Amino acid sequence: MVELIFGQVLWFAADPMAEGASAARHERRGAVAIEEGRIADVGTADDLRARYPQATMTDMGDKLLSAGFIDTHVHYPQTAIIASWGKRLIDWLNTYTFPEEMRFADPAYAAAVASTYFDLALAHGTTSMCSYATIHPASVEAFFAEAQARGLRALAGRTCMDRDTAPEGLRDTAQAAYDESKALLEHWHGRDRLSYVITPRFSPTSTPDQLLALGSLWAEHPDCLMQTHLSEQVDEIAWVKSLYPQARDYLDTYETFGLLGENGVYGHAIHLEPREVARLREVGAGLAHCPTSNTFIGSGLFDAAGLAGAGLRVGLATDTGGGSNFSMLRTMAAAYEVAQLRGVALHPAQLWYLATTGAARLLRIEERVGNLAPGMEADLIALDLASTPVIAQRVARAEDFWESLFPTIMMGDDRAISAVWVAGQRQV
Ligand code: GUN
Ligand code: ZN
Repeated sequence: MVELIFGQVLWFAADPMAEGASAARHERRGAVAIEEGRIADVGTADDLRARYPQATMTDMGDKLLSAGFIDTHVHYPQTAIIASWGKRLIDWLNTYTFPEEMRFADPAYAAAVASTYFDLALAHGTTSMCSYATIHPASVEAFFAEAQARGLRALAGRTCMDRDTAPEGLRDTAQAAYDESKALLEHWHGRDRLSYVITPRFSPTSTPDQLLALGSLWAEHPDCLMQTHLSEQVDEIAWVKSLYPQARDYLDTYETFGLLGENGVYGHAIHLEPREVARLREVGAGLAHCPTSNTFIGSGLFDAAGLAGAGLRVGLATDTGGGSNFSMLRTMAAAYEVAQLRGVALHPAQLWYLATTGAARLLRIEERVGNLAPGMEADLIALDLASTPVIAQRVARAEDFWESLFPTIMMGDDRAISAVWVAGQRQV
């Protein structure tokens, strides 16, 4: 049974970070054909109506159909502490984050927050995400069970910390990190639409032994992603230098222990040394850009245009609760603002790509989600490009499609998300 959804359609034929806005495709009167949870066709409304005369029809009018958003770095356990006031990274972790993460020892609490998190993500049009859990296996179970029940393509891992820089109650050992990560990986990786991600939190909260153990696990499962944090804040980098005096730089603390590779996803990556950029490029590693977090925690200005321009895969991320929003629209707006402060105006096509197709490339799921193309899984959203009075009055002046989209990027939120489909099933 084919379903045709009509609306404006936006998709990517190439990478606009490399080729500019011409890499994007927009169909003013378009349609997407869905069959058995996958996209069967994308084209003009007239062509698809003629090609699928028996299809059921859903007319979204003027709404914009796009691939669902993909959040490439989020901490679902921090949902309840979003927007906590007044701290920079290390204090923020100690004051707000670690006490909250301790609560995930209780599987019922983990399940409740996972449910809230996925409700919020879907309401904001985010259909895939790569999350950190906590040190507790139950926090990973809760995330995957909830994602599985909702049919989502989702990625996550147990956040490992064994150093006394992390509080009692949130510490494991090198061996426990290896064993429990491995058991979770073997259970969940590749099950339905789920993937396990090897997750050392960051080098300041792990001993060299733990980094080495997780490097070994990654070497045994090189198809898994590995996620961690890198060069987020200047104080943090000084801390890493004091804890790892032999290291050439922050990245070296991962490289030395087998935690640098093409399936590595490094969050933040703001204050990089030239050697770090060169090595990340050389190995084909990817970067998660978390702009609302970087301004909220006061971390710095990520060089999206420069790093993507150098050929690194970059995707956008909320980093909630360090990030201050669940919305990938607000995240695109912050990426625009951060780039402006570096003297670059990212094009709306580039911002949209970083939240969809580029994010999928970062997470190595671009063959499945992140774009509208035949064969892809049917995770898509319909956006109202006039969702509030202030956006509507600006769009009334728009002279082309990009000008009609940009106000929603800059000012839109969950009110702009009119519909969400996951594997072809309407959710919102
Ligand atoms: N660095 C290590 N852990 C975290 C975290 O939970 N959030 C952010 N923003 N940075 C981190
Ligand atoms: Zn993070």
